[in-house]
Amino acid sequence: MRVGPVVIDTPVILAPMAAVTDLPFRTVAEELGVGFTITEFLSAHALASGDKKTAGKMTASLDGRQFGVQIFGREPDKMQEAARMAVAIGASLVDINMGCPAKRVVAGECGSALMREPAIAQELVRAVVSAVPAHVPVTVKHRAGWNQDNRNAPEFACAMVEAGAQMITVHGRTRTQGFSGKSDPEMIRLVREAVPRHIPVVGNGDVVDVEGYLRMREQTGCDAVMIGRGALGNPWLFSRLREVTQGRPDPGQPTLEERLSVYRRHIELIEKLKTGPRTLHEVRKACAWYARGLYGCNALRLKVWDAPDLATARGFVEDYFTQLIERQRRLGLSPEGERGQMDATFDTDEAA
Ligand SMILES: Cc1cc2nc3c(=O)[nH]c(=O)nc-3n(C[C@H](O)[C@H](O)[C@H](O)COP(=O)(O)O)c2cc1C
Repeated sequence: MRVGPVVIDTPVILAPMAAVTDLPFRTVAEELGVGFTITEFLSAHALASGDKKTAGKMTASLDGRQFGVQIFGREPDKMQEAARMAVAIGASLVDINMGCPAKRVVAGECGSALMREPAIAQELVRAVVSAVPAHVPVTVKHRAGWNQDNRNAPEFACAMVEAGAQMITVHGRTRTQGFSGKSDPEMIRLVREAVPRHIPVVGNGDVVDVEGYLRMREQTGCDAVMIGRGALGNPWLFSRLREVTQGRPDPGQPTLEERLSVYRRHIELIEKLKTGPRTLHEVRKACAWYARGLYGCNALRLKVWDAPDLATARGFVEDYFTQLIERQRRLGLSPEGERGQMDATFDTDEAA
């Protein structure tokens, strides 16, 4: 897939997620084969005002890999300044958030609120396009519309393209839906139909497995799929999709050993790239993700949450996986068999 001059080999993009898709998370996804990653949304106002915390979240992918920076706001000059900062750290594209439903963002008439003001949204796209070099495409991520009666995604997407956007991502829920109900693939299909063919349209919403990816491509005709929540604790979805999109067989679920090794890599990245008291919090979050759905995960999560330091938290997880691998051997479960076991135990364990 091409976004202007940017080539994305695997048509699978990690969704920007605030407080989730930091550099360690993006790196794990990239190492497992995701096609492209984007930072979480960053306030243009905060960036342009020199806010260090926000600037600290604007991170370039490791090893020179391509990446995007997502910004939000409604002041053209601040958006321009934020976009220039993104270009300065080597961003391959600048994405503008016009989909966030959060009250504090909408109250500032940013995020999904811009879907009610296409002329202002266009002005922002034009301003950002004029602030970045021609080789850095400006893209827009938005929702199906504001509410059920105002599902203007196709017209809105066309207006953004007319203003200079070179890729459109659509999450098939409206702003008022938040994260409830279902993402509507029909809205994504209508956007694909409306937008000029050379502009890629990325479908987003509720894709959590290989079947969901294939369904999204087929039902909507979209050029790529963006995956968010489905990747939490399941970054293998990206390696599976890389294989499938290249015409090879789906390698299936990871073994426990593979899980443990990616978990260790994630923790290593957190410890290397993060500093300060939030490091332990980040490690706890990662522990919970990687055990999600496995036998006894709930008890592990509680233990890790109470761990006073990194070494103790890490030790709990290592012991947990050692015991789980031993249990799998004892019961003679294949990875598929274990998956069945995991799924069967997931509900009861989670509900406990
Ligand atoms: C915790 C969380 C944080 C999110 N933060 C952002 C964000 O910073 N920018 C953005 O465009 N969307 C954000 N989203 C929305 C996701 O990018 C995506 O559109 C949405 O989760 C639907 O995709 P999914 O069903 O694959 O998760 C966030 C979603 C979640 C769950």
